[in-house]
Amino acid sequence: MDGNGRWAEKRGLPRAVGHTRGAEVFRKIATACKDLGVEYLTVYAFSTENNRRPEDEVSAILGLLRKYLLESIEKMERDGIRLKFLGNLDILPPDYRKLVRETDEISKRVCGMQANVCFNYGGRDELVRAVKRLGGAEPTEQALSDCLDTAGIPDPDLIIRPGGEKRLSNFLLWQAAYAELIFTDTLWPDFTKEELVAAFEVFSARKRRYGGVDR
Ligand code: FPP
Repeated sequence: MDGNGRWAEKRGLPRAVGHTRGAEVFRKIATACKDLGVEYLTVYAFSTENNRRPEDEVSAILGLLRKYLLESIEKMERDGIRLKFLGNLDILPPDYRKLVRETDEISKRVCGMQANVCFNYGGRDELVRAVKRLGGAEPTEQALSDCLDTAGIPDPDLIIRPGGEKRLSNFLLWQAAYAELIFTDTLWPDFTKEELVAAFEVFSARKRRYGGVDR
């Protein structure tokens, strides 16, 4: 969800306002995905490197996370969207971790699209944690996949990066092996359902060979 800070700065507003708007757009896009039949949506909300940001910005993002968790606990069943958090959540204060556990419990009862929120997530950090979990077991691709935060979740078909940068920035490094990538200059707070549908159309026209040849 890149570009929140620039969106706010362009309007002379504090960066935190951009994140607030970004969280609203996440809700809109999650609903759009559900309506379009998407089974899994994964957003990058906070990277392991985002901790280097000024304290007031990090605490604004944490505040939004709390608000989002509380709203989701209330609305998840009604909206038919299951919420799952990926990343190293050990850094979160205990009351947040309790809310995440509650969210996980509700998600088990909800049928519908799964929205994954990567929080304090880094692809490299996830791989290191997976290798630790693997212990001495035989390191096959399947065994390692089963130790990732995304265990049981299919690899992404499409990754859309808004905000103009053309890189993955430590997002789903293992899982993105054969993902189609779309980059757009649109800042996340301006991202719309129409742009999402346009990205799906571009994706549909791509030929996916997974290293093989067309037959
Ligand atoms: C990237 O934009 C965005 C973030 C680092 C934070 C995103 C967080 C939220 C939208 C709030 C939390 C949301 C949920 C659903 C829990 P940037 O700040 O890097 O923007 P810039 O590149 O313009 O500076």
